[in-house]
Amino acid sequence: MTLTTDNPASKPVETRTPVLQARRLVKTFGQVVGLDGVSLELYPGEVLAIIGDNGAGKSTLIKCLTGAEIPDEGEIFLDGQPVHFKRPQDARSAGIETVYQNLAVSPALDVASNLFLGREERRKGILGSVFRMMDTKGMRKKAKAELAALGITTLQDVTVPVENLSGGQRQAVAVARAAAFGSKVVVLDEPTAALGVRESNQVLELIKNLRDRGIPVILISHNMPHVFEVADRIHIQRLGKRAATITPASHSMTEAVAIMTGAKRIGNSDE
Ligand SMILES: Nc1ncnc2c1ncn2[C@@H]1O[C@H](COP(=O)(O)OP(=O)(O)OP(=O)(O)O)[C@@H](O)[C@H]1O
Ligand SMILES: [Mg+2]
Repeated sequence: MTLTTDNPASKPVETRTPVLQARRLVKTFGQVVGLDGVSLELYPGEVLAIIGDNGAGKSTLIKCLTGAEIPDEGEIFLDGQPVHFKRPQDARSAGIETVYQNLAVSPALDVASNLFLGREERRKGILGSVFRMMDTKGMRKKAKAELAALGITTLQDVTVPVENLSGGQRQAVAVARAAAFGSKVVVLDEPTAALGVRESNQVLELIKNLRDRGIPVILISHNMPHVFEVADRIHIQRLGKRAATITPASHSMTEAVAIMTGAKRIGNSDE
């Protein structure tokens, strides 16, 4: 909810608690400053895009939020509580699912196995507990239901090895896996970069589906039309900081690019 009444400047004031929040993160690599005091807020039910030039710190920011890097300074909050992720599994256990750019799917495994990778379900009773037998049937059934719930209709057969799928379908499997386990937040790094028009559109629809199911999404993308199509808000990263947070309604793509490159400055910058 945004309030406009109590504020003298009648500037909208955020009153909600962010699902995920970063405050003044710093991350250096030797002499190189990857993050220089960046802050970010992800609110419930939104798609937050992160845009920025090469080297602006987008991936480093995401890595700090998802436990793949540990920030030197700054704080991270999940549902208002401070968190200190030491490894990706910590973030995953806390409900933050990440689809990295170099897709973390296993090509030789089938769709259902990929969905349950690292979270395989065993058969009930002694077969599972003693003989460690997988509940393949159960997982396939759940995988089908999950894909259907996400509106992924091009993947009828969950027993097909992922290596036989198209790029878009593989991306769909990765996103479905991220969405499938009661996650609080889904983070996607360049999910449409390697995809054609039709496949990209499917992934964009998937992102909207996630949002409609109440899962907020962080989307890193260089593709302005994609960003402007799905994002509720756009975090513009520049030189390790947040240059601005805008919305598709408040700014044009040209203006967004101008802020990204430093040609245009804006009031709500952290710089
Ligand atoms: N592991 C690392 N070791 C040394 N420098 C790094 C490392 N990771 C990132 N950097 C540096 O930190 C800065 C931010 O990099 P980052 O990968 O976050 O940028 P990015 O915004 O994701 O760029 P791109 O759009 O090219 O993916 C860059 O100067 C980069 O060279
Ligand atoms: Mg990157």
